[in-house]
Amino acid sequence: MDNKAAAFPKNFFWGAATSAHQVEGHNHNDWTEWEKLGRVKNGEVSGRAAGHYERFAADFDQARELGHNAHRLSIEWSRIEPKPGLIDPDAIAHYRAVLQTLRDRGLEPFVTLHHFTNPLWIARRGGWRSHDTVDCFGRYVMAVVRELGDLVTYWITINEPTVYSTNAHLAGYWPPEQRNVAAAWSVIRNFVEAHRLAYQIIHRHVPSAKVGVASNLSNFVPVRPHHPVDRFLVKFAHYWHNQWWLDQTYVDQDFIGLNYYFHHPLKFAWSGWRNWFVPRPQGDKPLSDLGWEIHPEGLGQLLTFLGHYHRPIIVTENGVADANDTLRTDFIRRHVDQISAARERGIDIRGYFYWSLLDNFEWREGFTPRFGLIDVDYQTLRRTVRPSAYAYRDICQRNGTV
Ligand code: FCB
Repeated sequence: MDNKAAAFPKNFFWGAATSAHQVEGHNHNDWTEWEKLGRVKNGEVSGRAAGHYERFAADFDQARELGHNAHRLSIEWSRIEPKPGLIDPDAIAHYRAVLQTLRDRGLEPFVTLHHFTNPLWIARRGGWRSHDTVDCFGRYVMAVVRELGDLVTYWITINEPTVYSTNAHLAGYWPPEQRNVAAAWSVIRNFVEAHRLAYQIIHRHVPSAKVGVASNLSNFVPVRPHHPVDRFLVKFAHYWHNQWWLDQTYVDQDFIGLNYYFHHPLKFAWSGWRNWFVPRPQGDKPLSDLGWEIHPEGLGQLLTFLGHYHRPIIVTENGVADANDTLRTDFIRRHVDQISAARERGIDIRGYFYWSLLDNFEWREGFTPRFGLIDVDYQTLRRTVRPSAYAYRDICQRNGTV
């Protein structure tokens, strides 16, 4: 299949995404404290990560050479506000330089305000379980838009709120390792409020701003298509994972951000309370290095679902862990084809961000998964462009970025 140029307008955003903690290095937040407890695979810590804090200009030169016209990044709250109410002028100056460097290279910045990490003082006050955090977040957002708002049009308030609340407060998989339904429920409700508050603050300061959330949506399918319990499971999972958050917030989203990674065939099989709904890979799809099934058609189905909200859609993340770079080219092409086909069905999709520009610190999985268009040698921090990055460049260029 080929990407039909006509399906993509000249102003379509083509780029790659990163997040502060995963690429910058030398952060000091709730994750860095937790990493020291040895919870990350192989006992790794984020440490200097990809060294992007110092190398951002060269990395953006590379993105430009790879045909991108946009870039998604996040601002690290713990750098901006290391102590309650104290805004660090050096951090502001740094992010101003980052954003100006993107602009100088013709890369439209998409700025995420919360991407999984919290300042330590927020974590110590109860993190996102505490309603107080909503107000603190509002104060931080106010400072960011006041100091950086002239350089940014596209804002993402929160990255994957349902993934964060589940992993950190229900599954006990991320800091603060809670396994508590009531806590997870408070967290997600606080996120709804925090998003609405941030939406208002950003629009008050930057009237032309476009504000959204990057939501992780999964493609759930029944293993036995006619089995009533499998079908019920799919409806239930789809509602809770994909739909609930959007129903609460789409009115306050100028665009819907979609992070797409997962295809989950669901089958009811009782093996204890914790396992009855566990996804069962069917073995008929290629797997990434992390064992995630690759199923681009699932993206097409989710885009159709999102079309019902009548908001512009931006694919804010989509990527594959593939150290040998044998899957990535085909992965990108097939997902972009799904976007092209969805646009032809009349769905308003305005951009695609591959995850990630660089190899980086993949949370609890550490440095092993290689998601980057660009390989990072963690000994020397040397960058090497992978062949798939050139294949993606051809897609970007054929569809209008140069
Ligand atoms: C997403 C996260 C991103 C990255 C990718 C692989 O859920 O938003 O930070 O870890 O997964």
